[in-house]
Amino acid sequence: MAKSYMQVKGLVKRFGPFTALNGVDLEVFPGEVHALLGDNGAGKSTLIKILAGVHQPTSGRIFIEDDEVQFRSPRDASAAGIGTVYQDLALNQLMSVTRNFFMGRELKGRLGVLRTKEMDKIAHDEMLKIGIDISDPRQAVGTMSGGQRQTLAIARAIYFGAKVLILDEPTSALGQRQQMEVLKTMMRVRARGDIAIIFITHNEIHSNLVADRFTFLALGQVIGAGTKTELAGEDIRRLMAGGAEMKDLAHELAAI
Ligand SMILES: Nc1ncnc2c1ncn2[C@@H]1O[C@H](COP(=O)(O)OP(=O)(O)OP(=O)(O)O)[C@@H](O)[C@H]1O
Ligand SMILES: [Mg+2]
Repeated sequence: MAKSYMQVKGLVKRFGPFTALNGVDLEVFPGEVHALLGDNGAGKSTLIKILAGVHQPTSGRIFIEDDEVQFRSPRDASAAGIGTVYQDLALNQLMSVTRNFFMGRELKGRLGVLRTKEMDKIAHDEMLKIGIDISDPRQAVGTMSGGQRQTLAIARAIYFGAKVLILDEPTSALGQRQQMEVLKTMMRVRARGDIAIIFITHNEIHSNLVADRFTFLALGQVIGAGTKTELAGEDIRRLMAGGAEMKDLAHELAAI
């Protein structure tokens, strides 16, 4: 079997007395989509914020290609090849595609002159590689569709070195056509073979369409994990339902 790029072992995160993650394991492989599923409050965002260097874990270990790492900041995580695309995409609607693509990392020539043409070409070409042909990279991001914006954020993360691409609910705010565009983009990234994608979603159909591997979280714990072949479709439905049931139960118990 291929070697994993990143391995997470026994991750615990407490916020005061509250345990958001309770011993989570996760392993991601280049050329695979790893769906991270779970109901609201399961701990998905907390997990990825730790991987992105936003939160520090209470305990647990993270390995990148066998070396243990500690991310003290988003910069550390980014330098280790963790690229995160949050739901808000961190794009400025009023600025051009190219400016958003390079935001703060512009290419400059001697005397600090911006290499505008070169940056336009890179933004255009990198997006084209994963399926969107932007005719004018100087158009404002606000004029693009939701799917195109998602692709811009993904292309940018890859261009700046992401080896683990974390996508937080990339399809949730989109119409059906746009959702399919984003799933296609994910499959093109997958086809490169060198990037591990973590796909956070509530959508069982989407995860079944694209994921090679699944991890189900409920109340901060992994309640099921495995490859698509290990988990039959039936298991996936049961695990989704199980997560929701556990959450309902927790609410009932908390109300007593
Ligand atoms: N900064 C924080 N302080 C205290 N509790 C937090 C904090 N961040 C998250 N939590 C709690 O941790 C639990 C897990 O939250 P998290 O946002 O990781 O869930 P999620 O799986 O991403 O849910 P959703 O699907 O709604 O995005 C929740 O009960 C949440 O209230
Ligand atoms: Mg979340």
